[in-house]
Amino acid sequence: MANLIEGKIVSKKIYENLSDEILFLEKKPSLAVIIVGDDPASKIYVNLKKKKAQELGIKSMVVEMPQDTSEQALLEKIDELNKAPDINAILVQLPLPKQIHTRKVIEKINPLKDVDCFHPYNTGQIASGNKPYVYPCTPMGIVRLLEYYDIKIEGKHAVVIGRSNIVGRPLAQMLLNRDATVTICHSRTHNLAEITSQADILISAVGKRNLVTKDMVKQGAVVIDVGMNRTEEGKLCGDVDFWQVEQKASFITPVPGGVGPMTICSLMKNTFDLYNLQEKLQNK
Ligand code: GUN
Repeated sequence: MANLIEGKIVSKKIYENLSDEILFLEKKPSLAVIIVGDDPASKIYVNLKKKKAQELGIKSMVVEMPQDTSEQALLEKIDELNKAPDINAILVQLPLPKQIHTRKVIEKINPLKDVDCFHPYNTGQIASGNKPYVYPCTPMGIVRLLEYYDIKIEGKHAVVIGRSNIVGRPLAQMLLNRDATVTICHSRTHNLAEITSQADILISAVGKRNLVTKDMVKQGAVVIDVGMNRTEEGKLCGDVDFWQVEQKASFITPVPGGVGPMTICSLMKNTFDLYNLQEKLQNK
C-alpha cells in the first residue's frame, strides 16, 4: 500500500507560515483577479481564491466583466492594473470568451505582476533554465509536495502525461531543471503504457477518469494525479484508478486532497513573493 501525499496537510503548513508573515506587514500584498463572462466553474475557482486571500490577510479585488467584453476593453483593464501601484499580482481567469485572444491578453500582463507565470518572459525563463519572477501555481505545488515528502527528483525518470501550458509543459521543464530525465506524453503518443511503466515519478495532467491503470505503473513509482473529473455518481476523481494503483505505488496523491489544495496555496505564496519583490525594487 502506498504512502499518501496529502496536499491538504502540506498546504495548511504553508498557510500557517504565510499568514504569520503577512500579519507583521504594515502594507498588505494585493491580488487582482479578472473574470470575463459567467462560466460556472470559473466562478467557483475565483470565489475560492478570494476567500483564501481574505483568510490570510491578502487584499483581493475581483474584476467581473461581461461575456461580450471586447478584447480592447480587457487589455485596457489589464493596463490599468499594471500601472496601479497598490496591485502586486494580476490573474486573468481562463478560459476567456471566443472573441478574445488569450495570448494577447497574457502578453499584456506586466511580467512582474504575472502571478500565474503565463507571460512569455516568465515561461521563457523556465524553458531556458532560468528563474521566472514566480513559478506556475500547479507545477510549483507539485514540486513542493515532492520536496515535502523527500522524494528525490535528480536522476529520476519523470513521465508527464499532458502538455498543457498550465501544467504539463512547465512542469516537465521544471523537473528537467531539477535534473530529472523527462518524457512528455500526450494524446498522440504511441504505446503510452510502455512509456509510463518506466516512470519513477508518473504525473497525469489530462482530465480523463481511469486513464492511468495498474498495468501502466512500475512497482514503487511515485504517482501524482492532477486530474479533476467526476464519477457517474458526481463524485470528484482524478485521472488515476486510485484503488488499483495505490497497491503498486510507493507514494500517491488522492483526489480530492492531493494536488488540488496546492494550486491555490501556490497562488497565495506567489502573491506574497511578488509583493516582496516589488517592495524591494521600489526601495532600491
Ligand atoms: N483556469 C484553470 N486553471 C487556471 C489557472 O491556474 N490560472 C488561471 N488564470 N486560469 C485557470
